[in-house]
Amino acid sequence: MNGMTAEFLRSAFGGESQAHMRYLVWGDHAEKKGFKNIGRLYKAVAFAEQAHASGHFKELSKVAGGFSVTSGAEFGIGTVVENLQGAINGELHEVEQMYPVYLEAAKFQKEKGAEKTFHYALEAEKIHAELFKQAQDAARQEKDFVIDKEIYVCPVCGYTGMGEEPEFCPVCGVKKALFKRF
Ligand code: FE2
Ligand code: FE2
Ligand code: FE2
Repeated sequence: MNGMTAEFLRSAFGGESQAHMRYLVWGDHAEKKGFKNIGRLYKAVAFAEQAHASGHFKELSKVAGGFSVTSGAEFGIGTVVENLQGAINGELHEVEQMYPVYLEAAKFQKEKGAEKTFHYALEAEKIHAELFKQAQDAARQEKDFVIDKEIYVCPVCGYTGMGEEPEFCPVCGVKKALFKRF
């Protein structure tokens, strides 16, 4: 595998792994503060980040070994509104900077597997940024996030949706029976 693509995959794996854990921490915090559905949203998105980290990690099995990994991450536990701002900032960084650049590098280097896993993540992060913004708007008014039925997450690409479920994942095409629900 081309070195630059491998470097970006490792960095993205690090970022997704941290996002996964950070959302579990912030989700517990939101629940304790009485925002049950914001907690559910964090847990659903944490699962999507796990799917992204897993996809990147599997792609990296071609370049096994020990590496130091540098990944940008948001730190701190503040109010529910502040933590959601951290989540929005992280998702927007991925949508506006990180994944578009990583995706172009993978295309340029003709790394099809990396291109796919970066594409999956980019599509899901756009939705995450939007859902966290909606949750933050509710929290600002001291209200919990309103969940339509359940939040469902595709275990392959991390696609995250709410309400009526499509028969197949709109991003990667797996059957809805495989979705995980929160
Ligand atoms: Fe992600
Ligand atoms: Fe995300
Ligand atoms: Fe999917």
